[in-house]
Amino acid sequence: MEPISRMKRDTRAEDHFLKRKRHTEIKHSVFQDVLKTSVYIANMSARGKGETFTYIDLFAGRGDFEDQAEGSPVLAFNIIEQHVLQEEGPGRNHFQKTCIVAIDKDTEAADHLRSLLVRRLEKSAGRERGIEVYTGNSNWELYDFEIRTLLSRSKWGFIFADPFSTELDIGKLKATLRAHAAFKDILILANPQTASRQSARGHANDIVRICKSLEIPPELVGRIAKSRELFAAALKEAFSSLKEFTIGVAMPVTVGGRLIKADYFYLVLATDSIVVADSFLTAYEGTVIKERGSKSQGMLFGRGQEILDAFERNNTSNLSLWDIMEDLWDNFLSWKNAIKGPGYEIPTIKNIIDKLNGLRARGKIVFKESEAFQYKVKRGNAEPGNLKYSEIRSGRDAKRIRVQLEK
Ligand SMILES: C[S@@+](CC[C@H](N)C(=O)[O-])C[C@H]1O[C@@H](n2cnc3c(N)ncnc32)[C@H](O)[C@@H]1O
Repeated sequence: MEPISRMKRDTRAEDHFLKRKRHTEIKHSVFQDVLKTSVYIANMSARGKGETFTYIDLFAGRGDFEDQAEGSPVLAFNIIEQHVLQEEGPGRNHFQKTCIVAIDKDTEAADHLRSLLVRRLEKSAGRERGIEVYTGNSNWELYDFEIRTLLSRSKWGFIFADPFSTELDIGKLKATLRAHAAFKDILILANPQTASRQSARGHANDIVRICKSLEIPPELVGRIAKSRELFAAALKEAFSSLKEFTIGVAMPVTVGGRLIKADYFYLVLATDSIVVADSFLTAYEGTVIKERGSKSQGMLFGRGQEILDAFERNNTSNLSLWDIMEDLWDNFLSWKNAIKGPGYEIPTIKNIIDKLNGLRARGKIVFKESEAFQYKVKRGNAEPGNLKYSEIRSGRDAKRIRVQLEK
């Protein structure tokens, strides 16, 4: 017979394994959606220009898991391979070259990943279509020169940083990217639980790591590590100088239908593209709905209070659609915001537009008749004067549409 204490430990271990498994599934699901959109958007602009797309995985892992699930560098390989093999249709490949860079400091993980990717590339028709793969086995910071060189040769790109805890030095990452950050999307995973545990323990080395992983001074560590909101705000702030949009979302984890943790980890996306930003929130919405089951459907019928709040926060009665998106994306953090009352929702562009049309129908707002908008209306809407999701294809579209609050 097993001692009780041992049995208890086993149960906890199993729970921990399930949590990690769900966490990885959610992370990979959002990661894949955003990377696909990033590749698609870059490819549209690369038409006829012979440009390159570079994917960089700074904390790449071993490439697969015990349950055979694939890790981020292999998932990225699949997405890029599928893209470059596409010869027809709107998504057909325009990149002259695509690079996949995967770095892990753990030798066993890096060796395993390297052999996986070598086999994958050998079998792939993508090799003839300009896919190149680079792997590294060291702290990613030691590849600073190689990363800069690859990024300087590649107009488009995606950088993924997925450390276990507080290993990412944001200042160093920004220094590596700074000159080449334009046209590159950045996705970071952060673990607020480790930060708060490390902060409570108070070891000097850990405090230094937390400071570097959030770009904050030591005197703020205690306060920020205790507050999930401040933690996410610090992360977003760290990337806001690089990109137009930095969106942070808290990821819930449920095991067996039970919510284990509302904000088990954070994902932060930094991008200049509203389409990539929107794909991030749409993927997030998908995972939240899946995690929380049918109950979350209730939040799809709000009345647009969050949009009225945006006017109040900006102290104005006239905002462009872009201003509204920027405000909601800045202020959104978690699905918990989305259910704080009737009318609050995850601010995907589609949800924002549905809400705006609803507010217009109730006489709360009007769309301002700018020339650009009249042009869009003329193209025909089911409900005259309503905005259509398909009309918002770029930041310029969102800047042209103005929304006036009705008194
Ligand atoms: C969470 S795992 C990565 C999982 C992977 N991104 C995935 O989704 O399949 C984090 C990895 O980062 C590696 N690592 C930790 N610090 C690192 C550093 N400074 N540079 C490179 N790799 C590091 C660890 O060895 C570990 O394999």
